[in-house]
Amino acid sequence: MANKLSVSNLLGIKYLKEDDIYLIFETARNFKEVINRKIKKVPSLRDITIANLFFENSTRTKISFELAQKRLSADVVNFSSSSSSISKGETLADTVNNILSMKVDMVVMRHPSPGASVFLANNIDSCIVNAGDGCHEHPTQALLDSFTLIEDLGDLNGKKIVIVGDVLHSRVALSNIFAFKKLGAEVKVCGPKSLIPKYINTLDVDYEPNFESALNWCDVASMLRIQNERMNQCYFPSTREYAKEFGLNKQKLLKLDKEIIITHPGPINRGVELSSDVIDSGKTVILDQVENGVAIRMAVMYLLASRI
Ligand code: NCD
Repeated sequence: MANKLSVSNLLGIKYLKEDDIYLIFETARNFKEVINRKIKKVPSLRDITIANLFFENSTRTKISFELAQKRLSADVVNFSSSSSSISKGETLADTVNNILSMKVDMVVMRHPSPGASVFLANNIDSCIVNAGDGCHEHPTQALLDSFTLIEDLGDLNGKKIVIVGDVLHSRVALSNIFAFKKLGAEVKVCGPKSLIPKYINTLDVDYEPNFESALNWCDVASMLRIQNERMNQCYFPSTREYAKEFGLNKQKLLKLDKEIIITHPGPINRGVELSSDVIDSGKTVILDQVENGVAIRMAVMYLLASRI
């Protein structure tokens, strides 16, 4: 396996080779061991300055990136759009160029517009990590999801994964489709037809409209959050009906004659995608995903920094 990434930015899973993904996983495995030690810090990024630019709300991803940077001893500056000069009319490229002139080496950006990080990478001379761009990609989430599944399943080759819910508005769905397929899994999507993008077949992914059939087929159910903030019309009759048709509860799990792995990127709409009896049953890997997120982000930033 190569010891360098084939890319100098992390813009999306689409741009990664299979080898890049395995290199990130191997590096993350080492960092996971580090963050479980008493002394969790290594000096690997001591000379690197990273700016976290969050133009959209975030809890987990922002904290996870910041912890990963601190564990690697990087210098960190944080910026969120509500308190920035964007509200005074400055363009994205101008804002970022001004930050870079203060000698910042790497930019981690979350932005509501799909393609924002690709735009930045094409216009700015710095290393860019996409922390989620609108409903396009969320590559570190897909990496941590795949890493978590591989910890349980050994590998994803031939494994059956169904992605359930609001595929249309979810950047996690698109990044996961790319990642799962690159790692050899069979992928289906399930949810109300109105929340499945028309281009889904072009990604070599089948649509299963029936949740019970999807559950019977799969080894892994990757549950998505309903992205209410990205909806400007009604996509399903009511939340109650959605939960009845596509929400996962204990009763539906008991009907299966097998164990499946349940993931969710968070934040969860409790009682919608997942019922409380599933969330609190200890039968999901949601907190493993969060834990692995730090190690994955350490690996991504460490490997990208070695290319600067
Ligand atoms: C995801 C996101 O922001 O896209 N959450 C996350 O990064 N932990 C998923 C979501 O918001 O539904």
